[in-house]
Amino acid sequence: MIGVRRQTQIYLDGVGARRPSIPLDADRLEAAAQKRMRHEAFAYVAAGAGNERTVAANRAAFERWRIVPRMLRDVERRDTSIELFGQRLPSPFLLAPIGVLELAHREADCAVARAARDTGTAMVLSNQASRPMEGVARILGDTPHWFQLYWSRSDELVESLAGRAERSGCRAIAITLDTTMLGWRSRDLEGAYLPFLHGKGIAQYTSDPVFRRLISEESPGDPEAPQPRPNLAALRTLIELTRAYPEGFWPTLLSGRGRAAVQRFTQIYSRPSLTWETLAFLRERTDLPIVLKGILHPEDAARAVEEGIDAVVVSNHGGRQVDGAIATLDALPAVVEAVDGRLPVLLDSGVRGGADIFKALALGARAVLIGRPYVYALAIAGRTGVREYLLNLAADFDLTMGLAGCRSVAEIGPGAVEPAPGLDSALRSAHSRQ
Ligand code: GLV
Repeated sequence: MIGVRRQTQIYLDGVGARRPSIPLDADRLEAAAQKRMRHEAFAYVAAGAGNERTVAANRAAFERWRIVPRMLRDVERRDTSIELFGQRLPSPFLLAPIGVLELAHREADCAVARAARDTGTAMVLSNQASRPMEGVARILGDTPHWFQLYWSRSDELVESLAGRAERSGCRAIAITLDTTMLGWRSRDLEGAYLPFLHGKGIAQYTSDPVFRRLISEESPGDPEAPQPRPNLAALRTLIELTRAYPEGFWPTLLSGRGRAAVQRFTQIYSRPSLTWETLAFLRERTDLPIVLKGILHPEDAARAVEEGIDAVVVSNHGGRQVDGAIATLDALPAVVEAVDGRLPVLLDSGVRGGADIFKALALGARAVLIGRPYVYALAIAGRTGVREYLLNLAADFDLTMGLAGCRSVAEIGPGAVEPAPGLDSALRSAHSRQ
């Protein structure tokens, strides 16, 4: 129903010469955002690891499946909603956690939260957000939201962030497992640009009481760590850094807290030594469901079930971490099989339209997360752009579902898709056994 309503609205607007404020095609959306964004900002959002083969593989994996629509099934009334952790989502997608949204728009996370609220779309708040979670959660109100956590070297900070998420009404904590170190990102390295070093995307830290205490404590430091070379640009960055700290320009500049915050952040934001055993720390400190984001191997998925994890996200971080990593849609069937219905499996990386969502659901995902496209919509038209993007995606999915002969998400099963002709016979026979 929502699909037809949205489509009719757009065509009727056209009668009065009003056009959508963002392109509807995924590639044109990206190209339009590129024109609006500063070079290094667009590069940071679009970048993948290495030669960006996994970015391409994520998309290519969707092309290897075809939907096989069924006819004469009365799809007049449709329901695209799903249930996750006791909450009903109007469509089977959530906004993926994406950091440093200020690179796309000055209202950053707040604009996205308003669009999420306007459309009832669930939002996963980023650990690397440009705005503290409390304010963004206030905007969201009853709209479902989760918090994405990077496991810091400081347990105390992990506990503090989790507590703040709980008090902000987040309904789950999604731990991103795949970014214990930043991937080797050619575009960012070529531009020698990492937004955090400019004080961007560290608002969850500078607003955190534990982090603020850690800044003022003597840090062990790494005597071998490279230091910025002093010149005019470095001075400009120092001034930029004062914005990262909520106490105003002069106090922050004079106290050196902006720079200290960034230094401390780089020392503690992630913990490469993280193991399955570490996760118990969070389980003991929160009643919220724990979601593991970044699962690609079926044995890791099975282990997540054993460890009492509440959901997994099949993700390769949009191809930003390991160049050559398996595409998420390729990884999905084995993860779904390993989990065997014992917890919900979500998927992200490469989802660009209603048909992609349909394919992921047919292969066993409960829902998907949408990443870069909403940042592009944000860059082009702020809150309005993101709202339109979300309405369009919901409409696209609804029409795809109905035209494929399904009245609800529950009716989207493995029989609704087929491997594309020319695919190797192993994939075909594995699929036909389902
Ligand atoms: C960090 O989360 C990134 O992907 O840039």
